[in-house]
Amino acid sequence: MSEPTIETWTAGQMTEEQFRAGCVLHHAAFPKPGRTIEGVIAKKRPVWMGEAGAGVVPGPLVSATPPVRYVIRGEDGALVANAAILTRTISTEQGELTVSGLLDVATCPSVRGQGLGAKIVQAAWASVDDGTHPLCLFETGEARPFYEKLGARVVDNPIIDSTHPTGSRDNPFEDTWVMIYPARASWPEGEIDLRGPGY
Ligand SMILES: CC(C)(COP(=O)(O)OP(=O)(O)OC[C@H]1O[C@@H](n2cnc3c(N)ncnc32)[C@H](O)[C@@H]1OP(=O)(O)O)[C@@H](O)C(=O)NCCC(=O)NCCS
Repeated sequence: MSEPTIETWTAGQMTEEQFRAGCVLHHAAFPKPGRTIEGVIAKKRPVWMGEAGAGVVPGPLVSATPPVRYVIRGEDGALVANAAILTRTISTEQGELTVSGLLDVATCPSVRGQGLGAKIVQAAWASVDDGTHPLCLFETGEARPFYEKLGARVVDNPIIDSTHPTGSRDNPFEDTWVMIYPARASWPEGEIDLRGPGY
């Protein structure tokens, strides 16, 4: 396979076709009983098709800059791989840290095992590799070994969201593992305040 082209799509500046293509891949990669493509579209629309011009995306992702999708298309033009990055200023016991956050990592089931997942995640980590952000913070489940191969590690700090509407101190991440990339990044002990919902 020749080297795939990686496109970048910025929230608030995407076409309806691009937005829907991302939703279709998400729906194929994360099948959930009872979930419909219309449900995926409705959930993702505020983040990806909202107003990004002011440099702040309000709503679910609380991102300091608009989230960006990294995507690879297959020969027929359909999306086969994507990963998204947001930025978030979090509080740690050593002060504030503006980190990148990884979400929506998926490859189409028909192309798995061909290296596209690794390529798209490495593209999404460019802002860490070039020093713009000190690290990437994200959650995962079964894909933990996939990320470990790519140089990430699990962290076990208590994590809260101090902006939670009910004051809940539950971990805003829902998946099994919280990870950072790169594994060698300086990372504090103690509580982490995500200052927004999980992603
Ligand atoms: C996880 C996922 C993105 C991997 O995509 P992929 O295109 O198959 O990944 P790659 O082909 O680039 O694999 C890179 C390496 O990771 C390994 N790997 C991939 N998925 C793995 C997994 N679930 N567990 C262990 N290793 C895995 C591959 O074997 C490969 O190893 P190698 O370099 O030694 O050959 C894909 O399986 C997927 O979309 N899963 C469903 C959605 C999901 O779980 N996303 C992650 C949410 S955090």
